[in-house]
Amino acid sequence: MPEIKLQSAIILKGPGEASVVKDLSIPSPGIGEVLIKVQAVSLNPSDWMARDHLGRPGAGMGFDFAGTVLEVGEGVQKVRSVGDRVAGFVHGCHGANYSIGAFREYLTADAALLIHIPSNLEFTEAATLGMGVSTAAQHLYQNLPLPIPCKTSVRTNQAILIYSGSTATGSLAIQLAKLSGFKVITTCSEKNIPWLHSLGADAVVDYNQIDAIRQVRRHIEDRGLFIILDCVSKDATAAFCYQCFAPPLSAGNENAPWTFYYASLMPVKNLPPPPIMIPKSAIIHAEWNMVFTCFGRRFTIVNEGLGLNRTWEPSAVDREFMTFFYRCVEQIIPLGKIKLMPVEVREGGLEGVLEGIQLVKDGGALGKKLVYAL
Ligand SMILES: NC(=O)c1ccc[n+]([C@@H]2O[C@H](COP(=O)([O-])OP(=O)(O)OC[C@H]3O[C@@H](n4cnc5c(N)ncnc54)[C@H](OP(=O)(O)O)[C@@H]3O)[C@@H](O)[C@H]2O)c1
Repeated sequence: MPEIKLQSAIILKGPGEASVVKDLSIPSPGIGEVLIKVQAVSLNPSDWMARDHLGRPGAGMGFDFAGTVLEVGEGVQKVRSVGDRVAGFVHGCHGANYSIGAFREYLTADAALLIHIPSNLEFTEAATLGMGVSTAAQHLYQNLPLPIPCKTSVRTNQAILIYSGSTATGSLAIQLAKLSGFKVITTCSEKNIPWLHSLGADAVVDYNQIDAIRQVRRHIEDRGLFIILDCVSKDATAAFCYQCFAPPLSAGNENAPWTFYYASLMPVKNLPPPPIMIPKSAIIHAEWNMVFTCFGRRFTIVNEGLGLNRTWEPSAVDREFMTFFYRCVEQIIPLGKIKLMPVEVREGGLEGVLEGIQLVKDGGALGKKLVYAL
């Protein structure tokens, strides 16, 4: 009798309900894919959002993982080898598809969209990379006009405001923006100020201070502020951010065709009107996107409460961008130029992950990543 290989995975049952299913088959890698033994997974707020609001029953859950390549599919021999240590993320809760999702023992992934784990990182650290670094990169380099650090060595006099640098995405965005040569001004609550300085932020403002906007504007000095990444993306944070836009003090020309850039990680329900301190002729380019576009597949996300109702068409450009960016990340990380979020490695395997998703939702994992070894 042939050996039947089965694995366990977390599958969505219905809104707010997921469980470990133990009799799923282990897939073979398709063309351009590899089969990975998952060694560690890490949790994101997107896990509970998908569980409660966005996922469809029957979907495989989970985004971030790190693991070992077990088998390479057709066409990827030059890219990956058996035994490679890799990290990345997958499009968990994609439709009702049980075969996608990181919270499982074995998964198949696009070989180009994996980050080779350098020897200075454990699987439990590398598992936190995928979604955070990809989201930060998509927003900084595709939605906002920053230069990718490994492509150019440009040093600029420009500044960026990263609202809520203490988010997982923001903490990576601070470091990438520094590598892109920007002055980084960021916000967080008081307790996180030393941490964000340690990541290289030039100025850190406690957003709870009554004069927080004035403090940000003071740090802009006379260079102006054209570029903002909002990692919280609420009406109130967008309003805060727009108040920080500023032309250079020396601009002089009321009719200068300035373009200001605002990117949010989630859709903002009510974007504010242009602030009075920027010229009337200025354009504000406001954008939000979903990191999953890098997988080059069509997908739709609908949720009225979260203000989401959008379909993304397959984007070869986005997949090419992320493939290129991951090669840059592979160069930067071994140099110790990216500090990852503090990690809390927890017991319990996939059953533990179910509890962890709720803990993240309840606010029990702020400022750190919950990670589970499998
Ligand atoms: N577009 C995409 O594809 C994409 C991808 C990944 C994530 N996201 C979304 O991006 C957002 C951030 O995710 P993440 O995983 O990076 O964040 P996270 O690590 O869960 O962020 C937690 C931190 O956010 C700060 N925070 C929370 N509420 C805040 C508020 N109202 N104002 C200011 N700061 C606040 C807190 O730090 P302080 O105590 O310092 O305030 C908290 O420690 C989520 O909404 C997530 O769904 C989008």
